[in-house]
Amino acid sequence: MVQQTLNTPEELLRFQLRTAMTMEHDSLAALGELAKAAKSPEIKKLFRHHATETEEQVANLQQAFKLLGYKESTAPSPSTKGISKQAASLLERSAPKLRDQVAVSSALGNEHYEISAYEALILPARAHGLTDVVALLQANLDQETHTSEELRTTLEKLLG
Ligand SMILES: [Fe+2]
Repeated sequence: MVQQTLNTPEELLRFQLRTAMTMEHDSLAALGELAKAAKSPEIKKLFRHHATETEEQVANLQQAFKLLGYKESTAPSPSTKGISKQAASLLERSAPKLRDQVAVSSALGNEHYEISAYEALILPARAHGLTDVVALLQANLDQETHTSEELRTTLEKLLG
């Protein structure tokens, strides 16, 4: 397959949006796996709650595609695949009593990646005056930031 060259800021933004769509699908799968791996009902609940939010985030991305007049599609997101792979490998080698800590730490890593992905989308979208698209992306970013704070608090409690 011939690799597409991204020549303009618009093409770059579109490609990043497509990658973000894959990122959210990967997050949904990862949250399901982490909810299975976690032992604490409270932590399972946190993962499930964020999975519901992630479905809203996918809907926001679909809306962003629509507003920009782009056909909705995905592009490879090797980073999120890598984060999930690392989580699975660490869970596999960790004793059951460590599983909650590993699951929360892995989710935290994923959230931080998502935060950086949204920041990298929001700044150029804002620079291009795409106010409605920025609002949708900002809503996703706010959820990721909130979740990362919850995960950090949960991790602290686990270690306390
Ligand atoms: Fe997300």
